[in-house]
Amino acid sequence: VSSTQDHNKPFLECLIDQFQSSNADPSNVVFSPNNASYASLLLAPNLRPESTSPLRPLLIVTPYYEREIQAVIYCCKKLGTQIRVRSGGHDYEGLSYVSGIPFVVLDMRNFRSVSINTKDKTAWVEVGTTLGQLYHTIARHSKTLAFTAGVCPTVGVGGHISGGGYGMMSRKHSIAADHIIDAKVTNADGQIVDRRSMGGDLFWAIRGGGGTSFGIVLAFKLQLVTIPGTVTVFDVSRTLEQNATNLVHKWQYIADKIDKNLLLRLFLQSITSPIHGNRTIQANFKTLYLGRVHNLLPIMQEKFPELGLLPEDCIEMSWIESVLYFAGLRNESLDILLSRIPTGIYNPVYFKGKSDYVRQPIPINGLKGIWRFLHEEDENRGKLQFSPYGGALNDYSESETPFAHRAGYIFMIHYMVSWTRPGNNESERHMNWIRRLYGYMAPYVSKNPRAAYFNYRDLDLGTNNEGNTSYAQASVWGLKYFGNNFNRLVSVKTKVDPSNFFRNEQSVPPLYLSA
Ligand code: FDA
Repeated sequence: VSSTQDHNKPFLECLIDQFQSSNADPSNVVFSPNNASYASLLLAPNLRPESTSPLRPLLIVTPYYEREIQAVIYCCKKLGTQIRVRSGGHDYEGLSYVSGIPFVVLDMRNFRSVSINTKDKTAWVEVGTTLGQLYHTIARHSKTLAFTAGVCPTVGVGGHISGGGYGMMSRKHSIAADHIIDAKVTNADGQIVDRRSMGGDLFWAIRGGGGTSFGIVLAFKLQLVTIPGTVTVFDVSRTLEQNATNLVHKWQYIADKIDKNLLLRLFLQSITSPIHGNRTIQANFKTLYLGRVHNLLPIMQEKFPELGLLPEDCIEMSWIESVLYFAGLRNESLDILLSRIPTGIYNPVYFKGKSDYVRQPIPINGLKGIWRFLHEEDENRGKLQFSPYGGALNDYSESETPFAHRAGYIFMIHYMVSWTRPGNNESERHMNWIRRLYGYMAPYVSKNPRAAYFNYRDLDLGTNNEGNTSYAQASVWGLKYFGNNFNRLVSVKTKVDPSNFFRNEQSVPPLYLSA
């Protein structure tokens, strides 16, 4: 390991010193900017214009052992360098690998063992594991066990599960964080704690409050869920000419109340009609039913006959095949789930996401306004995703975990816009579009606070000031992500990390630092 850059020299020396005193070997673990692997290690699955920022990490450390993590914490504290922890690197704003001040990245990609216990239906999963790898490993052990978490196979367990984790089984089995039954965490003192030794408050905080403010999560113990050997999927689209507006309107009245084995996810975008060649809106219903097609059809006929679902629209398959199906990898072998490189519908692009929660159905006129916005964007660039709530999500009270979005919410909106080239004001144009759309939606979505999903991180909601974090400032975005749980998160932070060692633009601040 060598560095030509003066500013990372002290850190490198400290780290090598620490490694030597614990008989660890820094080669293949510590990467400085002049190392050939540095650029490819830094590469992110989704690109933000800001990720071209001149501040790159002083070093990237990819530990294999806990003592190597402890060495990084020691040197960060000694030299006042900020630490950014990265598991899968899918943070929407790049907070796991971009910073405005000198920092090192602790990349957990080598912490990726998964051990399944089919008897008590649990799994110990290290944080650098991707969801695809987790799902693949579970399916190798059992055809009737699964885990409830997100759709994109390359998302990392560390950020995703600690921040919530909504997926195609969430109406039946709720979110990933609700199934954490134990965890191993390195705290701000470098000590390794588990559920018993970390105490109830910290264990509560990392189940939806994100790991990032509280410590470095090393592994989670998860309660797996039982699933039928055969599930049914369908992917049906309707345009405006095929009654899309009324279908979307009606969907809002059934999506959170229908049989909880059924998750009808809705994607909206503007496309060129293959029939008349003009732009139209496409409403795409992507659905997982945890059961056989003959049981699904009568439910759809009774609750949503307007969609006109036909038996030939439906495909029966195993749950693990449905994972490939929803990731846009239908014809691939299962082993593609082991890849850390995004493929299928998840090619790396410049991207901005935002979120909202809906309590009352959006009236037809409101929907028509959304159509106007979608038509303004380039085809295939601006999209909305409506994710239904209800079902098992409501089995938990608002304060049981930091994830507060429970009973009373019909669905979550995810606004997305992506583009392939920055420059020529492209980024500004797309960012401007999504922000205007978000502004337009204000009358139709939750208020006081206007709720948002922490895992769809959005720095437009507000940021901390470096070195001068105030509770009032942080509560602007904190209340949106966590509701009243934000106050308890602040008190946990004050207890476990009073010096605010683990911090970023949207970390939870300790109370006494508040102005
Ligand atoms: P990353 O490594 O970037 O970490 C995210 C945050 O968590 C950072 O602040 C980081 O510092 C912190 N962190 C990471 N590991 C940590 C650890 N071990 N200890 C402490 N802090 C840690 N969400 C969803 O609910 N359902 C879905 O279907 C999808 N789908 C999806 C697709 C795509 C293409 C993207 C880019 C994102 C999603 N998401 C999602 C959102 C996803 O859940 C969110 O971005 C997660 O934070 C990603 O976790 P990673 O570990 O990959 O990110």
